[in-house]
Amino acid sequence: MRDIISKEIIEEKTGGIITCEVYDELDSTNNRMKEYIYSGKRDVGLIVADSQTMGRGRMGRSFDSPSGHGIYMSLLIRPDMQGEHALLITSAAAVAVVRAVRKLTGLGAVIKWVNDIYIGERKVCGILAEAVSIGAQEMDVVLGIGINVTSSNDMFSESVRDIAGSLYGLSEYDGNRVSRNEIIAEVVNEFHGIFRNIEKREFMEDYRKYSMVIGKEVRFFKDNVRVSGKAVDIDDNGGLLVDTHEGRILLNTGEVSLRLK
Ligand code: BTN
Repeated sequence: MRDIISKEIIEEKTGGIITCEVYDELDSTNNRMKEYIYSGKRDVGLIVADSQTMGRGRMGRSFDSPSGHGIYMSLLIRPDMQGEHALLITSAAAVAVVRAVRKLTGLGAVIKWVNDIYIGERKVCGILAEAVSIGAQEMDVVLGIGINVTSSNDMFSESVRDIAGSLYGLSEYDGNRVSRNEIIAEVVNEFHGIFRNIEKREFMEDYRKYSMVIGKEVRFFKDNVRVSGKAVDIDDNGGLLVDTHEGRILLNTGEVSLRLK
């Protein structure tokens, strides 16, 4: 049976907390949400596409978005908080995805700082949060989430083929297959549950619990210099603490690499 994404099912499963638009194809769900914000349209809280022609990732990368095989969604968030806490939104989204995937599929999803979701050695989900200023004081955040659900290895661009994977594309997966609608709704519900009290940072306990980085040797660039060290903790703002031979460093943004094999 084809797994068709449905506005009605998503809205029903999220108990009416969100108005949703579903498209067969968009260039990018984040782009569409940003267009809505710039034009003053703020009544759509969730945009989902079955495929994207220009799916975007962090650091200018693209995000492969084949039709029928993934979830490409953008949430409109109005954070009632200062910019320095924006990292919390992506951390909250990572916890929401991990909880949803674990609950619905039983797969052992984990978080690679800052906000990639892995199963085993494969990245199955990426998160791209983009701030949009509206006026001098206010800002919205477009929270884009891409989850590979049934994509096979040949559907990924060569540059990511060694790391990308999908929920049900794992050879060892023989669990329950749930629809994309169910996953989307569960991610939205989990995220909203966290977001209501985001400033309390209670979800950071799960962020640390599901971190695949804490306790591992990591490498990263600082001022264009390659540094390595041991990731020891993640603070309540989502920052990664790394012990290097020059002392403890707090990373607030960027990317770390770790040896997986
Ligand atoms: C990353 O892995 O670097 C982040 C990937 C984010 C992809 C999602 S898919 C929905 C939304 N629209 C986009 O163009 N990007 C995000």
